[in-house]
Amino acid sequence: MAYRSFSHFVDELERISELVRISEPVATELEITELANRQMKAPGGGKALLFEKPTIDGKISSFPVAINTMGSKRRMARAIGLESVDEIAHQMQLLLKAKPPASMRQGWSLLKQGIDLLHARPKRVTDGPCKEVIHRFDGSGKFSLKDLPVLLCWPKDGGRFITLPTVYTRDPDTGERNIGMYRMQVYDERTTGMHWQIHKVGARHGKRYYERNEPMPVAVCLGGDPAYTFAATAPLPDGLDEVLFAGFVRKKSVELVTCETCDLEVPADVDFVLEGYVQPGELRPEGPFGDHTGFYTSVDPYPVFHLTAITRRKEAIYPATIVGIPPMEDFYMGSASVRIFLPVFKMNFPEIVDMALPAEGVFHNLVFVSIRKQYPYQAYKVMHGLWGMGQMMFSKYIVVLDEDCDVHNTSEVLFRLCANTDPQRDTTFIKNPSDSLDHAPTAANIGSHMGIDATRKLPSEGYSRGWPELVRMDEKVRAKMDPLAKGLGLG
Ligand SMILES: Cc1cc2nc3c(=O)[nH]c(=O)nc-3n(C[C@H](O)[C@H](O)[C@H](O)COP(=O)(O)O)c2cc1C
Repeated sequence: MAYRSFSHFVDELERISELVRISEPVATELEITELANRQMKAPGGGKALLFEKPTIDGKISSFPVAINTMGSKRRMARAIGLESVDEIAHQMQLLLKAKPPASMRQGWSLLKQGIDLLHARPKRVTDGPCKEVIHRFDGSGKFSLKDLPVLLCWPKDGGRFITLPTVYTRDPDTGERNIGMYRMQVYDERTTGMHWQIHKVGARHGKRYYERNEPMPVAVCLGGDPAYTFAATAPLPDGLDEVLFAGFVRKKSVELVTCETCDLEVPADVDFVLEGYVQPGELRPEGPFGDHTGFYTSVDPYPVFHLTAITRRKEAIYPATIVGIPPMEDFYMGSASVRIFLPVFKMNFPEIVDMALPAEGVFHNLVFVSIRKQYPYQAYKVMHGLWGMGQMMFSKYIVVLDEDCDVHNTSEVLFRLCANTDPQRDTTFIKNPSDSLDHAPTAANIGSHMGIDATRKLPSEGYSRGWPELVRMDEKVRAKMDPLAKGLGLG
C-alpha cells in the first residue's frame, strides 16, 4: 500500500489507534523531546505523537509536528504499507531465489532487476503537491527555515536540528542518484549543516564535486510517503537507487518532479523540499548533538547547505524524530532493515540462520548472529564476511551463536556467551573503519572490533573434551504437562 501523503499515513496511524493528537501548545525547544522520549521508552515503542500546535520561541507554528511515527514494530510495518516487515523480507527472498546469483554483485543486480520487473520504476511528472507553495530565496519573500518547527532536541545541543530529512544528491560522474538521511543543524534562515559522515554516499558524491570545484546541487525532502524516509536510512549498497527500492516497497512507482532552482528530481508528494547547494571546500563547526549513541557528539567540521528555495504542500506536516539513550525510534527502523536484508546476508552466507542488532548496541555496536555450523572456524568466516559488507564494517562486537539460540532473546544470548566461550581462545580482534559517532576509539573513524565465537566447539577446533548437552525436558513430558500448567495458570 502506498500513501498519498504523509498526512495520509498519520491518518492511518490514528485509525489503528497508534497515534495521540496533542492540541495543547508544546515548545519545539526540548518539550517535544521530553514527551516523545517517554513514548519511545515505553514498552514496544509507545505511540506516535502529533503536536497540532508546536511553538517556536513561544509562537504557534503554522505546521504540526509528527514524531515517533515509525517507532514500533507495527508502525514501522505500516510505514511501508504492511502488517509485518517479514512480508517484504519474504518477497526479497523470492526475488533472490528466482535465479541464484553467484556473487554479491550479481545478487544486487538481480535485486535491481527484480525491482524493475515489479514495475517499481519512477515516473516523471511536471508538477505535484510539493509545489503547492513556492518560496524562492531571492530576497522577495520572508518565509525561511525559521518558520519550520525544527526541534531543539537536547539541552546541550548546538542548536535546532532537522532530524528526519531525506537528502537527495547525484554522482557528478555517473549521474546516479542517492538518498541518505543526514541530520541538518539550522545555522540561520537559509543555511544548515550537512552531516554526511565520511563513509556515506552523500560524502562520496560531495568529494567528487569538490575535486571538480563545482557547487553541488542538493535537495532535502521532508514527509511524503514514509517509504522514502525508510529507504533513505536503509543500508542499500552504493549504486542501488533508493527511489527504486521505495517503489518496490510501496508497490507503486514513485512520481518524481524536478526542483525549482536545481535540476535534481524529488518525489512529487512530499511535504517540504529544501533546495540548494553545497559549496566545495566550505566547512563549518557542527554540533554538539545528543546522538544515537546516547552521548553528545563533539563539534566537528561538516559541509554547509545553502538554501535557494523551499517548496511545500499547503497543509504540510513536519516529520521529526529524536535520538539519544536507546531504545529510540531508530531501533525499529534499523531492525526492519535487518529483517528485510537478512535474505541478502543469507545469500552470501548460507549458514546464517538469524541476526539481531539489539537496541542497547545502537545499530552497529553489537551484532548477534546464529549459524548452522558445519566446519571448524566457520564462526570466524562469518564475522570476517560481515565486517566486509557495507555498513556492517562498523560492527564493534559480533557474537556468533549456534542455530538453536534465539538471537532476539538477549538473555539467552548472554547465557550461551558466558557458558560456551573460553575468552582467550574464542575471541578475535581486527582493525576496521569505525562509525564516526563512536566516541570510544582513540582516533575518529578507525578502531578495533571484536568477534566472539560462542558456538559449540568441534574436535577439529582442538576441543577434545566432548561438548556437553543442553539440559532440556523430554518433549512427551512437556506435552503432557502443558494442559495442566495452563489450567492452573502456571504458564
Ligand atoms: C534518524 C536517523 C538519523 C541519521 N543521521 C545521520 C547523520 O546525521 N549522518 C549520517 O551520516 N548518517 C545518519 N544516519 C544513518 C544513515 O541514514 C544511514 O547510514 C544511511 O544508510 C546512509 O545512506 P547512504 O549509505 O546512502 O549514505 C541516520 C539514520 C537515522 C535513522
